[in-house]
Amino acid sequence: MKFFADTAEIADIKDLQDTGLLDGVTTNPSLIKKSGRDFIEVVKEIAGICPGPISAEVVALDHAGMMKEAETLRKLADNIAIKVPLTIDGLKTCKALTGDGTMVNVTLCFSANQALLAAKAGASFISPFVGRHDDVGYPGIELIADIRTIYDNYDFGTEILVASVRNPIHVHDAAKLGADVMTAPPSVIRQLFKHPLTDNGIAAFLKDWEATGQQIG
Ligand code: E4P
Repeated sequence: MKFFADTAEIADIKDLQDTGLLDGVTTNPSLIKKSGRDFIEVVKEIAGICPGPISAEVVALDHAGMMKEAETLRKLADNIAIKVPLTIDGLKTCKALTGDGTMVNVTLCFSANQALLAAKAGASFISPFVGRHDDVGYPGIELIADIRTIYDNYDFGTEILVASVRNPIHVHDAAKLGADVMTAPPSVIRQLFKHPLTDNGIAAFLKDWEATGQQIG
């Protein structure tokens, strides 16, 4: 399972990149606003830090406008994935861009049928939002299971990128279901490393080691 960081914060991206476990980055207009940075500049900087796919989202709602924005964004670096919303114009844009070799991440997916359409449009990634589904009382993770079944039925190459991940349980469940990628805020990725029994174990081993009076090397 690939791990993408859902953030536009450079310090977090550098820190996670140093672990060797970061496979890409996703941004959206809200994350750009939160960063307080210029969109073009920050995407370029992120693309220079992490070699994996960097999702940059268009904001136009019509096909021509999306194509124009995509043209600007894909020139920023070779590893840019253009993020388009799951609308008719978004999927038209997806088809056109993937047709000439550009990676496309279709975002704001909330149903298995929408995911089916995105795969038919040749999407590189489909982003089903699990957390936002949970927020309205639907178990978001069930969507991942449905999409996995449908994509496997037809051998679609579109990668399932689990988005709107809010906690380690989302990551655990998505991995069990065979999702290809998950994107999570840096805080959630860091939570994955943690377990109180690991901390307790380290403390106990260190205490006993000190009692031996030995040193390594
Ligand atoms: C990622 O591509 C999405 O934009 C993001 O995961 C949305 O997460 P949120 O629902 O926590 O805003």
